[in-house]
Amino acid sequence: MFEHLTPAPPDPILGLTEAFKEDQHPQRINLGVGVYQDAQGRTPVLQAVKQAEERIWHSETTKSYMPIGGSPVFGRLVRELLCGADHPACAGNRLVTLHTPGGTGALRVGADWLASLPGAHRVWVSRPTWANHRGVFEAAGFTVAEYPYQDPATHAVDFEAMCAGLEEVPAGDVVLLHVCCHNPSGADLSPAQWQVVARLAEQKGWLPFLDFAYQGLGAGIEPDRAGVCALLDAGVEMLIASSFSKNFGLYRERTGALTVATRPGTDPAAAFSLLQRVVRVNYSNPPAHGGLIVETVLGDAALRRLWQEELDGMRSRIQGMREQLQAYLAARPTPGEFGYIARHQGMFSLLGLADEVVATLRAEFGIYVVKGGRINVAALTPANWEYFAASLLDVLNRKA
Ligand code: LMR
Repeated sequence: MFEHLTPAPPDPILGLTEAFKEDQHPQRINLGVGVYQDAQGRTPVLQAVKQAEERIWHSETTKSYMPIGGSPVFGRLVRELLCGADHPACAGNRLVTLHTPGGTGALRVGADWLASLPGAHRVWVSRPTWANHRGVFEAAGFTVAEYPYQDPATHAVDFEAMCAGLEEVPAGDVVLLHVCCHNPSGADLSPAQWQVVARLAEQKGWLPFLDFAYQGLGAGIEPDRAGVCALLDAGVEMLIASSFSKNFGLYRERTGALTVATRPGTDPAAAFSLLQRVVRVNYSNPPAHGGLIVETVLGDAALRRLWQEELDGMRSRIQGMREQLQAYLAARPTPGEFGYIARHQGMFSLLGLADEVVATLRAEFGIYVVKGGRINVAALTPANWEYFAASLLDVLNRKA
């Protein structure tokens, strides 16, 4: 059975890291995968996480199974983080949360669950979107369609085109929306634009599925919630996949959550029980460690403060890099305008690079970026950003 298999192509994002590790270029830079690096080029364990782990080590008395949906305290703390403890949806009984293996796990659990319900099995994703979205939804049996999002000329959101696209989505279809730090484009909606999207969801009857993997890395924990709150306020049903990979640096602990919102006044208990069945036949119950860390940090005032400071530090380092890079490019002759890099939010910017530019950066300069020119700004450091900027200009000016 296994003798004549055709190997799968490398993953468009994680495959780059494998190739990067083999590269011998002395100045090589991996701007592929979305992993934060500090000014020294390290991906540190946050202090708040270390301290929480110490507490857990002392207090944990068992390694017995977690509940299928994870710890209820974790669920409550996640909901409070997503929309604010004083939001009526949080205080009321509209939301249920499951602890999942990462944000990807949350997307897949949500997709599997929706696929088991009667209704249209089509999801609309932004053009462009994260390379893995299509795979996750197709694996769950969905057909994937696209709505316009980033304008390739301005690198900003083409909001008019986006709304025109969302107007045409049939009721019952699923629409995947990035809440902040859009991956790969870096271009986000304003709070006013979220209000428009929420009204559209309500009027048209499509189901929002929010991907919220970067809370706190856009404008801050609270402003980054604008999309979640606008849709909750509109009273629509929705799903939210959230992640602690980036904002807690818990990448390898696979810590995420799936939250489902029912309409105000309706009981989400049936949804929760059905979601538990989806989990039970897949991985049975979640891995505990990352969830315990998040629960310990969010549930303790001092650790939470420390975490927020560390998160603010990550966000402002990324923003500083954006400004430096943009200023460098603006001061030199370039075949293009790069002001958008400083206006983007989160880890990524999509530079719209041709395949041969991406290939030359890799072959000649040891610089790895995702196809289309997505760069992880969070991997630029004081030691490597100028080399990246100069190499980029070299290749672009050759082409021009
Ligand atoms: C990314 O987009 O680089 C991250 O979300 C990591 C991943 O799993 O692709």
